[in-house]
Parts: sequence; C-alpha cells; structure tokens
Amino acid sequence: MIYILGIESSCDDTAAAVTADDHILSNVIANQEVHRNFGGVVPELASRAHQQNIIPVIQTALQNANISKNQLSAIAFTRGPGLLGSLLVGISFAKSLALGLRIPIIEVDHLQAHILAHFLRDKTSTKPAPVFPFLCLTVSGGHTQITVVKSPFDFQVIGRTIDDAAGETFDKAAKIMGLPYPGGPVIDKYAKDGNPDAFRFSKPNIPGLDFSFSGLKTSILYFLRDQLKLDPDFIEKNKSDLCASIQSAIIDILLQKVKAASEKTGIREIAIAGGVSANSSLRDTLIKAQDDYNWNVFIPKLEYSTDNAAMIAITGYFKYLNNDFADFSAVPYARSSI
Ligand code: KG4
Ligand code: ZN
Repeated sequence: MIYILGIESSCDDTAAAVTADDHILSNVIANQEVHRNFGGVVPELASRAHQQNIIPVIQTALQNANISKNQLSAIAFTRGPGLLGSLLVGISFAKSLALGLRIPIIEVDHLQAHILAHFLRDKTSTKPAPVFPFLCLTVSGGHTQITVVKSPFDFQVIGRTIDDAAGETFDKAAKIMGLPYPGGPVIDKYAKDGNPDAFRFSKPNIPGLDFSFSGLKTSILYFLRDQLKLDPDFIEKNKSDLCASIQSAIIDILLQKVKAASEKTGIREIAIAGGVSANSSLRDTLIKAQDDYNWNVFIPKLEYSTDNAAMIAITGYFKYLNNDFADFSAVPYARSSI
C-alpha cells in the first residue's frame, strides 16, 4: 500500500486527507468563516487561519485514517495556483514534516488535482473512473477551462475564459444582489424556488471553445440598477427568480461550449470538476445531457467538487507511481502549470 498525506491550502480552506493507493482513508476540511463579512477572501486573514488550522486538521486526517505518520509513503501539497501566503503555510508544513519523517514530497497543481479527483475511490464508489481521453470542464473560483485529459499527466487545454471564471461570476452576481460570499452555493439555494426563464440576460458571442462572462455580469448589473430605480425592493421581491435566471444563463454558456468541444474532438466521456461542479442545476443539466447527446458523464461527489485535500493525495499517488518527487527548494506559483 502507498499511503499519501495530501495537504491543500491554496485559498480559504485548510484541508488534509490520507489515501491508501487510490482509496480515501480520510478527508478533513476546516472552512474559514472569517471572510464571510468581507464579501471575498482576505489573503492575510486566510494565511493566519491556515496557521491555526493546519496542525489540528492534519492530526485529525491521520487519526480518521487510523494510521500513524510513520506509515506515510510521501506528502503531497498544493504548490499553486493560489494565494501566496496561504500556499506557503501548506508547503512549509509539508516540507518540515517530510524532513522529520525522512520521506519524499510531491508538488501538485490544484487544477490537475480537481480533474484527477475523478480517480478517487471510496467505499460507496460504484461508477468506474473515466476512460482516457476524456473531456473535463473545470469550473472553479479562479478558472474555467475545457481540457482533453489524455493521461494523468497529459492535459491539453482547448478552451478557457478570456475574462471572469464561472465561479467568480456566481460570486460577483451574488455580491451585486447583496448576498453573502461565496455566492455560488447561495444562488444555487435560492434558484431552487425560482423560474429560470423569468429574466433574460445577454449571452456572449465568442467563437471557438473560449468562454466569456464579463458581458453577462455587466448585463446583470445594468438590469438591476434600472429595476432598483423603479422599485427599491426589486431584488428582495424577485430573489429566487433572479438567482434561477442568472444560474441558468451561466449553465447555458458552459453547456454550449462543452457541446462544441465534444463535437470538435469526437470525445463523449465528459467530466466536470471544481467548486461550481457542486451546483445542483449544472449537475442535473449534465445528467440530462447524457441521454440527449449520448455522453458518458462523470460528476464528482460534492465533497470532491469543492476544494479538498483528497484530490491532492490522489494526484500525489499518481506522481508517486511515476517517481515524480519535488525538490525541497519548491516554492509556490501563482499560475497553473496545465
Ligand atoms: O474549486 P473551488 O472550491 O475553489 C477554487 O479553486 O477556486 O471553487 C470555488 C467556487 C466559488 O466561486 C463558489 O461560489 C463556487 O465554487 N461554488 C458554487 C457552488 N459551490 C461552490 N457555484 C455554484 N453553485 C454551487 N453550489
Ligand atoms: Zn479549487
């Protein structure tokens, strides 16, 4: 058995997980509530909270996995992309623990890990992992891209956003409506009681497989500004319909590009990854598309959609098998390597 401790600290969640080969033994996350009142992540507060959380989170991950730290084969950590101060906490901790235990360290790209989360197995896994090559729509707070995944290490990005990410669009739309951060889960919740056809917003017209969300954001902003002039309670009175309509506009943009990518590549194995893949309507839309377009769709469990360390550990496992270890001089990076 290869035991990997995965550590994720790229943004505002401090997470640790242990895998035995491709099986998850534990998956622990400490969410940082401190950012809620600020309408976004405050980097300095995030680093401080990581400092406080990292030891208890790792201890709990080892305890829940029921293994001792001496049994670990290697420690995998997120090297980037993310907030520098946050990444430094995880990286420094990984290096010191590995030095003490005399085991190797493995650097992991956060986006690669979101995609490889599809290879995690737990007691309830029933569907086999996607077969290479498959398409992955990665939708997170900072990234929106479509990748042809040819192997655990061979990724070709064939479409990406030219401005905002899908998660950012959810978060910004929520902020315009005065809803708390992160906006994605809040919009998802209110949208359940709303009519997705109640309001129409402008759709981008970007050729090829790239995405754009800034036009949609501006159209939401101007529409609400005009409506609030007529009725100051417009948002409160129409909250569910607004959330459902905004969510539906974002999902339409995503689905249209995935359809185009599948047609262009001929690939019908379709996966989604990243925080926005937790969205209930995106998940339902993909399940429906499975029949409509004859796709084989892969949707991660909710706990492996949003940021987690199990995805870091499984990526570490693949790299361990490949003898791909990091140097102790590794420092964080801000941009993804895939
Ligand atoms: O992957 P992730 O947890 O962190 C990053 O790597 O960025 O993604 C965070 C993003 C946020 O923008 C958040 O609003 C969005 O994922 N998100 C959702 C949902 N849950 C999280 N967006 C829509 N619906 C959700 N249920
Ligand atoms: Zn993420």
